Amino acid sequence: MKLTVIGCGYLGATHAACMAELGHDVLGMDADLDKVHILNSGRAPFFEPGLDDLLAEHTASGRLTFTGSYAEAAQFGDLHFVGVGTPQRAGENAYDLSHLFSAVRRLAPHLHRPAVVAVKSTVPVGTAPRVAEIIEEAAPAGGKVQVAWNPEFLRESFAIEDTLRPDRLVLGFDAERSWGEVLLRQCFETIIEAGTPTIVTDWATAELAKASANSFLATKISFINAMAEVCEVAGADVGELAEILGHDVRIGRSGMRPGLGFGGGCLPKDLRGFLARAGELGADRAVTFLREVDAINGRRRDRVVDLAREQLGGELVGRRIAVWGAAFKPNTDDIRDSPALAVAQRLHDLGAAVTVTDPKALDHARKVHPELGYADDPVAAAEGADLLLHLTEWPQFGHVDPEQLARRVADAAVIDGRGTLDLDAWREAGWSVRVLGRV
Ligand code: UDX
Repeated sequence: MKLTVIGCGYLGATHAACMAELGHDVLGMDADLDKVHILNSGRAPFFEPGLDDLLAEHTASGRLTFTGSYAEAAQFGDLHFVGVGTPQRAGENAYDLSHLFSAVRRLAPHLHRPAVVAVKSTVPVGTAPRVAEIIEEAAPAGGKVQVAWNPEFLRESFAIEDTLRPDRLVLGFDAERSWGEVLLRQCFETIIEAGTPTIVTDWATAELAKASANSFLATKISFINAMAEVCEVAGADVGELAEILGHDVRIGRSGMRPGLGFGGGCLPKDLRGFLARAGELGADRAVTFLREVDAINGRRRDRVVDLAREQLGGELVGRRIAVWGAAFKPNTDDIRDSPALAVAQRLHDLGAAVTVTDPKALDHARKVHPELGYADDPVAAAEGADLLLHLTEWPQFGHVDPEQLARRVADAAVIDGRGTLDLDAWREAGWSVRVLGRV
């Protein structure tokens, strides 16, 4: 099939490369010409494991190209995926849909023949009819362009795997679904034939699928982190508690790792966007608990700052703190709403001299937080430190030898915000160790 992907950020670039991998001819479109240039050279403008290889392979084979032109995209194929960003509106909980509406407004006037516009961007429920209205008004093919909703559930750092082998496909249509469904089923044929559950539904349910999935995931993380708060005052161990709970198949282990909590470009924003939309719809009581989910998450960051202050005898001014981790989670260079950087920033604001290290996210972190200090590796970051904070659980941090590191720091004290360091080894090497959710 010949298809396009409008918007080539984390979601769109990955989707474009994966559609080429499935055998389609793909044209990715992005208004940012620098991004288009990098993608056309077979590289990703961000770090995602395996994506550079996939882009290199398919741009070389000619099956995948990128453009900055909406006209070219409209001309290229009859199935257009839209994956532009829908960030949180500045100072509000609601989504900023301006990029989505602008992309659709700019694509529509070039749609001269019947087509399907399949939106993947995460949106508040009720957005699909607005997209359809814009297209109906502005597209020369008018009502012959169908709008489909195809939410994306990929996790950064597993984006390729999640796109090629998703755990479910959701296809949302209005009453006129027939052609759109045929085209999308054809596009995802390999995935559907592999036995992937495929749910065909209405627009609103497809839109809600993403908001509710991310809200549930956030709730699960905040649940175990709320238990961590209780464990800290009760003298219990949240790591062991999570294991005990996880053996119950109805609860499960996955997505319930206690620690510094969630960040990134999705969970926090989707939680707040869902709250805002439910409020508009008059269903705010149904989701009031999500406010608490968000608050629990925020308190984990406060807790690390409090523990750091306590560890340093109540005074942070002038104290040297090493922070391991800048990305919002391991194996990505994404720093959006990164819990690690939020803590680093707060400690800096309180007067500490903070040095951050991260295997992939330092360039982004330097740009957004020029006031923080940076070091290229975990040992250099910890040199002369009064306190070490382990805030993003990159595997390479777990490989640092605590005994050798103890000789480089001013004071061998560590707070493990993710609970993944080998605590016995660190204690044996003479470190004072504090872990969130454990005494
Ligand atoms: C998430 C959803 O998982 C994905 O389905 C959706 O499409 C986009 O949002 P992502 O933001 O890439 O994906 O990351 P995820 O792996 O879910 O982690 C989100 C945050 O939660 C990270 O900061 C991570 O460190 C934290 N987390 C995750 C925990 O603190 N504990 C866990 O058990 C799992």
